[in-house]
Amino acid sequence: MKIAVFVSGRGSNLRAILEAQKKKKNYEVSVVVSDKFDCGAFEIAKGFSIQTFTIGTKEGCISYDELLKKFIEKEIELVVLAGFLKLLPVEFVNQFNFKIINIHPALLPSFGGKGMYGANVHKAVFESSAKVSGASVHFVDPNYDTGKIIAQKCVDISDVKSPEEIAERVLEIEHQILPFVIDKFAEGKIKIADGRVVICD
Ligand code: GRF
Repeated sequence: MKIAVFVSGRGSNLRAILEAQKKKKNYEVSVVVSDKFDCGAFEIAKGFSIQTFTIGTKEGCISYDELLKKFIEKEIELVVLAGFLKLLPVEFVNQFNFKIINIHPALLPSFGGKGMYGANVHKAVFESSAKVSGASVHFVDPNYDTGKIIAQKCVDISDVKSPEEIAERVLEIEHQILPFVIDKFAEGKIKIADGRVVICD
């Protein structure tokens, strides 16, 4: 299964996906897309000789329409948002209905929505005094963090002293859960039954 990964930052989730790809070999990251020209994730992609594109309207950028054509040409079957901070256009989401997934660093449907990304999420979790946090992988719809949840994993944060400590514990889980879900996609084991997402054995 060929996948495209969208990124905006350092790319640790991209690296986890690429490391898992070496072992599983049932998927291949064909393209990495960012809204930035320079980001850590692009360096990682280049290290793995993966083609990169910057999305946008500036010179040297690609539009969503052009990207869509490339994805069709390259037979991309799954789009993975791994720390991508922009909202995708509705038309693009509709073209890949139930084929776009996102990793969110908290237990949705709590601590999601516009502005809830990166450190903001962990700060909100810390301030709420929640005793567990975790990571969620969900389908992408045209809104922020509201698509159906595919998989979640929790972590105990009852003893943390800072939002940074929460971020560290959650990131470790993100690196497990995202490759896990991609692998299940490649195996055709993710189904929707009675409106719920089910991961089959
Ligand atoms: C991750 O915490 C991800 O859940 C969030 O942004 C962060 C990206 O980290 N959406 P990285 O770029 O994968 O290291």
